[in-house]
Amino acid sequence: MRAMTKIPLTRIQASAGKEDAIRRAVRAVSFPQGSLRRIATSEDAPAFHALICDPRVSGPIYTLPKPPTLEAARAFIETHLDEKARGEGLLILEFDKAGGVCAYHDIQFWPEFAAAELGGAIRPDLQNEGVGSAGAAAAFDWLFAVIGVDLICETAALDNIRTRRLLERIGFRLVDEIESELPGGGARQSLYFELTRREWKARQRSTID
Ligand SMILES: CC(C)(COP(=O)(O)OP(=O)(O)OC[C@H]1O[C@@H](n2cnc3c(N)ncnc32)[C@H](O)[C@@H]1OP(=O)(O)O)[C@@H](O)C(=O)NCCC(=O)NCCS
Repeated sequence: MRAMTKIPLTRIQASAGKEDAIRRAVRAVSFPQGSLRRIATSEDAPAFHALICDPRVSGPIYTLPKPPTLEAARAFIETHLDEKARGEGLLILEFDKAGGVCAYHDIQFWPEFAAAELGGAIRPDLQNEGVGSAGAAAAFDWLFAVIGVDLICETAALDNIRTRRLLERIGFRLVDEIESELPGGGARQSLYFELTRREWKARQRSTID
C-alpha cells in the first residue's frame, strides 16, 4: 500500500453493488494480443525502469520509487499486480514499435468510495506536444464510462504547471493544498484536484474541445 495523506478528500460510501462492480471491472482489464498498451508484468521491469530512471519522468512523481532502481521498478510492478487482483490498482504501459516503454498510467482505486486517482508520465521526447493531455482525457473518460467510478482525484507538485493546466482544462477543481507522504518517508506539498461524474457529464454536454 502507498503511504500518503488520506485521499480522496471527498468520501461518499458506495453501495456494496457498486463497489463490487468496480473491483470486478478493474480485475477484468486486459488488452488485445499485440496491442501497444498492456498491463505491466515482471518481464517489463527493464523497459519500465528505462523510462522512470529519467528524472524528467520520475522527478515530479512522488509515488514512484526513489531511487528508481531496476529492483524497485520490478517491485512497483508486482505491487500493482497484487492491487489489480484486489481490484484496487492498475499499472498500464504503452510501448513504441521498438519495444520501449513510452508512457505509463498508474491508477489507484478506492472501490468503497467509487473513486480513482490517475498518475503517469510520458517519455521526454514525446512531452509538450499535447500527447499527455489527450491520453489523460481518454483515461478519465474510460474511468467514468467503463470502470464506473463517480469521483477522480488528482495530486500535482506545486510547480507542476503542465499537470495543473492539463487538469484544469479537462474540468478538475482545485480543492486544496495537501501534504503527500513520500513512500520512502518525508512529505511533499501537493495541489489536490477533484472531478465528479456529474461535473464530467455536464462538461461533455457543454464543450466540444
Ligand atoms: C505532465 C505530462 C503528462 C503532460 O503531458 P504533455 O504531453 O507533456 O503536456 P501537454 O503538451 O499536453 O501540455 C499540457 C499543458 O501544459 C502546457 N505546457 C506544455 N509545456 C509547457 C511548458 N514548458 N511550460 C508551461 N506550460 C506548458 C500546455 O500548453 C498545456 O496547457 P494548455 O492545454 O492550457 O495549452 C508530461 O509532461 C509528463 O509526463 N511529465 C513528467 C511527469 C509528470 O509530471 N507527470 C504528472 C505527475 S502528476
